[in-house]
Amino acid sequence: PTPESWRRIDSYLTHTLVEPDDALAAAVADQNAAGLPPIEVSPLSAKFLQLLVRISSAQRVLEIGTLGGYSAIAMARALPPEGRLVSIEAEPDNAEVARRNIERAGVDDRVEVRVGRAAEVLPHVDGPFDLVFIDADKESNTIYLEHAARLARVGGVVVVDNVVRSGRVADPATEDEQIAGVRRGLEKLARDPRFDATALQTLDAKGWDGLAIAIRVDPESR
Ligand code: DHB
Ligand code: MG
Repeated sequence: PTPESWRRIDSYLTHTLVEPDDALAAAVADQNAAGLPPIEVSPLSAKFLQLLVRISSAQRVLEIGTLGGYSAIAMARALPPEGRLVSIEAEPDNAEVARRNIERAGVDDRVEVRVGRAAEVLPHVDGPFDLVFIDADKESNTIYLEHAARLARVGGVVVVDNVVRSGRVADPATEDEQIAGVRRGLEKLARDPRFDATALQTLDAKGWDGLAIAIRVDPESR
């Protein structure tokens, strides 16, 4: 497939399956206007996360990496009224944009944005969570997965964004520290007896990438 063909299909699938959401569109517009990088998940991936919240009947969701709040809003929309989403963001300016977007979307009763480096915030976060979405600095993925193993309930879902990175994840010549972090994260998902995992490649408006999806398991009952 060429970028033109997969973008056309991404657009077709998005228009066919993802109902327009004014608050999500406004969140992207404001995020871009504020100069944040346009690296939020695609609309189809946001819908995928939203469906995972529903499929797992999640009431408590943890997100690592808020950016402008796009994926947080999408997931929070699928929570029951008493559900809660905690999202951690290292950049105070990003968190401000996210809080405005979350408020406009009307999910601020369910979403808490915590500002700080996730590696420093996570030790103060209490579980259990039904779903953990890891989408921050890739160098720290193993740290985040260690916290996810602690914080996710047995049977809970853990999703890691950006595990393919235009194929560089499997390019031995790549010395990029982010790619190395992605690899260490995937290796941890494979080796750590508290996880059972797979990964799916994605081709969408953001290019060639992928998601890892894991279930938190009880090592005693494997
Ligand atoms: C990029 C994309 C992401 O989804 C992310 O979390 C970080 C970086 C990127 O395209 O550079
Ligand atoms: Mg990402």
